[in-house]
Amino acid sequence: MAGAARLLAARGEPADADDLALVVATEGRDGVVVVVDGDRVVSTLTLLDEVVHIGEVAVPAGQVELVATDPDYEGRGLVRWAMEWAHERSRGRRHLLQVMVGIPYFYRQFGYAYATPVPTWGRLDRSPDPDPDLEVRRATLADIPAMDRLQRAAQSGADVWMGHTEACWRWLVEREASEQWLVERVGRPVGVARTTPSEGKPALAELAAVDDAAARTLVSWVVRSTDQPVHVQRRPGTPAAIDAVLQPSEEPAEWYYGRVERLAPLLAHLEPVLFGRLERAGLGDRDHEVLLSTWRQHLRFTIGPSGFQLLAEGGPEQAPVSKGGSGVPPDALAPLLLGPFGAVGLEERLPDCLLGGQRGLMHTLFPPLAADLLTFYLP
Ligand SMILES: CC(C)(COP(=O)(O)OP(=O)(O)OC[C@H]1O[C@@H](n2cnc3c(N)ncnc32)[C@H](O)[C@@H]1OP(=O)(O)O)[C@@H](O)C(=O)NCCC(=O)NCCS
Repeated sequence: MAGAARLLAARGEPADADDLALVVATEGRDGVVVVVDGDRVVSTLTLLDEVVHIGEVAVPAGQVELVATDPDYEGRGLVRWAMEWAHERSRGRRHLLQVMVGIPYFYRQFGYAYATPVPTWGRLDRSPDPDPDLEVRRATLADIPAMDRLQRAAQSGADVWMGHTEACWRWLVEREASEQWLVERVGRPVGVARTTPSEGKPALAELAAVDDAAARTLVSWVVRSTDQPVHVQRRPGTPAAIDAVLQPSEEPAEWYYGRVERLAPLLAHLEPVLFGRLERAGLGDRDHEVLLSTWRQHLRFTIGPSGFQLLAEGGPEQAPVSKGGSGVPPDALAPLLLGPFGAVGLEERLPDCLLGGQRGLMHTLFPPLAADLLTFYLP
């Protein structure tokens, strides 16, 4: 692992080497791929286990991280090969989906699509008022259950959410590239946030607090620890007291990548979510037949009180609309299942997304979704 750590530090941040050591210490080497030339590690990446929650269903997912190739070996397809390895391993772990953050465009070459927006950042020029009855301290490993509870509560309004795994919480508490903070009211944890060190551009992310006072106290702690303006991540659940005082970000919005290799098993897994959407639309009294073509492939299934039944899965289907079905290109599947546009919004944006006579049903099954994903690296 020393060679992979050296390569990551040389091509990314010095802290990436420590992060790889933390990952290997809890997860072992099973997810780490290294390409070697003799003794020299010339390319590496790591597959992490994640759980993406879509409605009430937990979807096992993979995330590729810690990607680097030695400059002398770039452009020879080493990462392409390593991504194939990671996706094979991801299949073996029964992941139904992959999500990741990464450099622009690159991962679209490996089946990823921009699926859902990353939270934007706002600049804070002055400190909000802290509550003098609250105390802020660095979080420890013993605080992981409390931090997880606070994050779950903050994410309860999201249609799609991903928390930190138990292993990732440990890395976050132990790593130095970001710091975990807890705010307490008489010994009871009431807020959590993560900061990056104050040199450069201090940032506060993943803020989750039970009330405005807890949020104000945590943010004020960070603002007072530096003479630079602090950048605060704007999550869907950012407390109003903080959101109101943030200056808008000038940076363009980034997006999380998502990848759906096979749609049928993912839809089967999502049966309770899909049926719930039908029921809420008053359509839960009977089974509905759906033809969905991704142009290269297609599937036909029914969804309703009898559950999800796969009727057929096959090759190219060039005329789904004239057969009463819908066409959705493969790179729209992750946005369809995780993203803010829903089936109808994707049809408005993509010439090869054609919902046809099934439009109403597709809108019910695949509505616009608000996502809140927590990842090891801050996007
Ligand atoms: C980005 C990086 C990982 C690419 O590694 P690599 O081994 O050269 O990648 P590959 O040769 O497997 O590239 C696969 C394909 O992407 C293309 N490609 C390479 N670098 C690319 C880039 N930055 N953007 C877009 N496409 C790129 C290659 O030409 C190749 O295309 P082909 O298969 O059609 O011939 C490497 O340049 C690197 O380590 N950069 C610095 C660290 C970094 O950015 N890591 C990623 C963090 S998310």
